[in-house]
Amino acid sequence: MKTHFTHIKNLLQIRQPYDNLASGQSMSHLPQLDNAYLSIENEHIVDYGRMSDFSAKSSDKNIDVSGRIVLPTWIDSHTHLVYAGTRESEFKDRIQGLSYQDIAEKGGGILNSAEKLQHTSEEDLFQQAFARLQNLIKLGTGAIEIKSGYGLTHEAEIKMLKVIQKLKRHSPIPIKVTYLSAHALPIEFKNNKTAYVDSIINKTLPEVAKHNLADYVDVFCEKGYFDLVDTERILKTAKSYGLKAKIHVNQFNAFGGVQKAVDYEALSVDHLEELTKDDIKALQASKTLPVALPGCSFFLGIPYTPARQIIDHNLPLVLASDFNPGSAPSGNMNFVVALACIKMNMLPEEAINAATLNAAAALEMSSSVGSITVGKKANFMISKPINSYTFIPYAFGENHIEQVWINGKTI
Ligand code: NIG
Ligand code: FE
Repeated sequence: MKTHFTHIKNLLQIRQPYDNLASGQSMSHLPQLDNAYLSIENEHIVDYGRMSDFSAKSSDKNIDVSGRIVLPTWIDSHTHLVYAGTRESEFKDRIQGLSYQDIAEKGGGILNSAEKLQHTSEEDLFQQAFARLQNLIKLGTGAIEIKSGYGLTHEAEIKMLKVIQKLKRHSPIPIKVTYLSAHALPIEFKNNKTAYVDSIINKTLPEVAKHNLADYVDVFCEKGYFDLVDTERILKTAKSYGLKAKIHVNQFNAFGGVQKAVDYEALSVDHLEELTKDDIKALQASKTLPVALPGCSFFLGIPYTPARQIIDHNLPLVLASDFNPGSAPSGNMNFVVALACIKMNMLPEEAINAATLNAAAALEMSSSVGSITVGKKANFMISKPINSYTFIPYAFGENHIEQVWINGKTI
C-alpha cells in the first residue's frame, strides 16, 4: 500500500539520483515544487509531483498536509553523541572568564569527559546516548555520525565503539561510526605523546579495523593536541586498513592540517573556524568536504567558519552540530541551520543544502538519504503551517517541525 502526502504547500530538495552535491553558486538553488504530493511505499519514496498530476488507487492512504512544507530530514555528519555526564561546571568557569583552552590545561575538558566515561558502564552509556538520539530524531535528524574519543584508553575506546555499534542496531536512523582516540592526550602520556600515538597505531586501530568497529578515523589536529606528524601517522595507518578520515582541524589554529587531510584524501575536514588562502586552494584541488560547526562557535564564542569565503570559492559546504558536552551541548540541527543564516550569512537555501544534500555526501550516504528522490529512504519532515521555509531559520529557537517520518513511519 502506498501513502500519499497531498496538497504540500512546498516540497523541498527534490533531486535526481545523480544530483548529489551542491557547490558554490549552486548551493543557493533549492529545487522545489509548490502544491505538490509525495508518495511513499514501505521504507521508500516512490513518487512525487504536482497536485495537478496526482492520482491514487482507492486502496492507498492519503494524508492532507495543506499549508505545510515537506523537506528531507537533517543529516548530522559530526557528533560526539556518546558521553557520560555533562560539564556544567566548566560552563560556569567560562562564564567567569576562563577559555576552553584554559579549562583543558587545568585537566578539564575532554579529559574530564574521559574520566567520567571510563567509570560508566556500557549499558549506562548506551541508555544515555539512546535517549539523546531519540530526542534528535524528534527534532528532525534522520542520519547521524557518532565519534568515539572520550575513552582515551584502549579498553574505554573499544567500549565506546561497542556502544555506538549497539546504537546502530537499535536506531531507526542510519549511523556512521568514527574512531577518535587522538582526541586528547591522556595524563599518563603527558610527556610522551609519541607513545600514545604508537598505541593507537599498533594496538587500538588494528583492533578497530579487525572487528569492523568504525567506518572512519578522526584526529583532533590542533596546537596542544595532535600535530601534523601525529596526524599523518594516524591517517597513513588508517588508510592501510581502508578507513577514510574525517578530521577536526583549524578550530583554533591553522597550520597545514587541511593540506595534510587532503593529501590523505580525507572525506571531510571539520571546524575550519580559522581558514587560510592555502587551505581554500587545497580544498579546491580535492574532493574533501569542508564542514562547519556553528553550534561550537556560538557556545565557545569563537569565530564562525567563513562560509561565504568557502562558498564564493565555488566549494561545497556542510553543516553539522558537533553535539558534545564541552563545546556544543546541543544537537538541534534546526538551530544549526538558523545560526548558519544569522551568523554566517548563509542563505536559507544554502543552509538547507548544507544540512541535507551535502551532509549526506559527508557520510557517503547520498544513495539513501539527503534529498527527496525516488528510491531514497522515506526520511522527511513536515512543518507546522508556516509561510515559507525561510521561517524555519528566521524564527529561531522554536520547533517548526510537526512530524518526522523515518523509514516510511511517523515518529
Ligand atoms: O569538536 N575539538 C575537539 N572536540 C570537540 C570538543 C570536545 C569536548 O570539549 O569535549 C569539538 O569541539
Ligand atoms: Fe567535534
